[in-house]
Amino acid sequence: MLIQPMKSSDVRSSEVTPKSIYLDRRRFLRTAALAGVGAAMGPMAGAALAGAGMKLPGLVKSSHSTAEEPTPYDKVTIYNNFYEFGTAKGDPGKYAGGLTTKPWSVAVEGEVAKPAVYDVEDLIRPHTLEERIYRLRCVETWSMVVPWVGISLGDLIKRLEPTSKAKYVAFETLHDPEQMRGQSYPALRWPYDEGLRMDEALHPLTILAVGLYGEEMPNQNGAPVRLVVPWKYGFKCIKSIVRMRFQETMPETAWSRQTPGEYGFFANVNPGVDHPRWSQAKERRLGEFLKRKTLMFNGYADEVAHLYTGMDLTKYY
Ligand code: MTE
Repeated sequence: MLIQPMKSSDVRSSEVTPKSIYLDRRRFLRTAALAGVGAAMGPMAGAALAGAGMKLPGLVKSSHSTAEEPTPYDKVTIYNNFYEFGTAKGDPGKYAGGLTTKPWSVAVEGEVAKPAVYDVEDLIRPHTLEERIYRLRCVETWSMVVPWVGISLGDLIKRLEPTSKAKYVAFETLHDPEQMRGQSYPALRWPYDEGLRMDEALHPLTILAVGLYGEEMPNQNGAPVRLVVPWKYGFKCIKSIVRMRFQETMPETAWSRQTPGEYGFFANVNPGVDHPRWSQAKERRLGEFLKRKTLMFNGYADEVAHLYTGMDLTKYY
């Protein structure tokens, strides 16, 4: 997202914590945390989250995965947008490591039969953990291919039993300026929030991701749980979610509130609708030199175009 000019040297390799050190530090913190809360949480089963940097067990390969080559782990985890930790692409990798992600609660509210404050483990555990290799297209025109690990958001929503009034689901990120140094500055109105229409949230491609590359989610990518909606621009993929609210009205969202003329609620990848300040026709895959053509709905048109039949996508951008 662009509200402040980016420096060309967003990430200097010398500033980035090497993966081995970062993982060791998180392993230590996680082991300490687990020792403290394990007894209270009871035994873990099924899709329970593993320790930091550890492989997530029992992953099922998804039929929704692309066969394209995944973007290298190092690129996916050091070139990030997570304004809660700063607006430069290297900031999340540098500053998100200290965020405590266990225990972690998610409040489920609004038009739903099972509202409660859930431990994230309890939300995820009953579901199948899948590896979903998805293209992700950022509105800033870079893209990547990520092997996410996650569960179907639709399956979770069905378990929570929304009422017939639930037309949208709104999401919120943690608001904790002590842990999230970027929230001391008004880069956005905090907390970061996002939303989906119910049919988008229930779509089989939409997931809640808890990891990538077979491992638990790195903090800079949105630990412990984030949204991934592969046919929409990356800013819809809200990170470190603490609240899900089912509601009748369309929710406000962080970027459409910030600059409504540039970012809309739907944010479907659309090479035919330019951003007011740049073209969306092409994209650069991280790690590649030549640009490639951006595809309608990020290449997922066969699966999702029907959701928008009859809608003027230049108006509902
Ligand atoms: N979620 C929160 N809470 N804060 C953010 O700043 N940035 C969004 C999205 N989710 C953002 C967020 C944007 S603009 C993008 S492109 C993706 O996260 C980037 O995800 P990645 O860093 O895992 O590639």
